[in-house]
Amino acid sequence: MTASEDVAAALPVAAFTDAMSRLVSGLAVITARHAGVRPCGLLVSSICSYSVDPPSVLVVVDHASRCREPLVHSAEFGVHVLGSAQERTARTFASRGADKFADLVWAWDGAVPRLCAAPIYLRCTTSAVFDHGDHTVLIGEVTRAEVKEAEPLVFYRRLFDWRLRGNGVRQL
Ligand SMILES: Cc1cc2nc3c(=O)[nH]c(=O)nc-3n(C[C@H](O)[C@H](O)[C@H](O)COP(=O)(O)O)c2cc1C
Repeated sequence: MTASEDVAAALPVAAFTDAMSRLVSGLAVITARHAGVRPCGLLVSSICSYSVDPPSVLVVVDHASRCREPLVHSAEFGVHVLGSAQERTARTFASRGADKFADLVWAWDGAVPRLCAAPIYLRCTTSAVFDHGDHTVLIGEVTRAEVKEAEPLVFYRRLFDWRLRGNGVRQL
């Protein structure tokens, strides 16, 4: 048994996921080109700023995600940080729908599918990929950043709501 298996055996998954559900997250849709032609995308909360020099982000993708393979093999990917008006888009990209792009306005930005309504768009060049456990970490160097003012879409204690209502946390 490895050291990490040892720790995992001692910690119930529910205790870990409950602890992590209390970390306030932003949400982003990560997109890439699949098989040279089709757009693919998934919703992630596992995204953060990684370095300033070079400007880069870190994204974590589940091995079970259908987008993992195209992302790992793409020279570029897109990051779309969602606003509070985009809960429906978040749910679409958290699903395993056949065509998640069908009801959205989107366009190719080179090889990157771009969701036009997202308030924050980062175009990234894939600069590192590595696996740990059941997830893959992608580091992307940001080559374009566009920002429109919007309230954020926030995920906290398994709820989508930037006002953090629910569980007596905060009522606006
Ligand atoms: C709030 C929320 C956050 C999520 N964060 C991640 C994440 O960080 N990484 C990941 O791989 N999947 C994450 N998921 C799950 C994927 O969005 C989901 O498995 C999706 O169906 C994958 O789509 P695909 O199989 O078409 O790639 C999240 C889902 C939700 C609802």
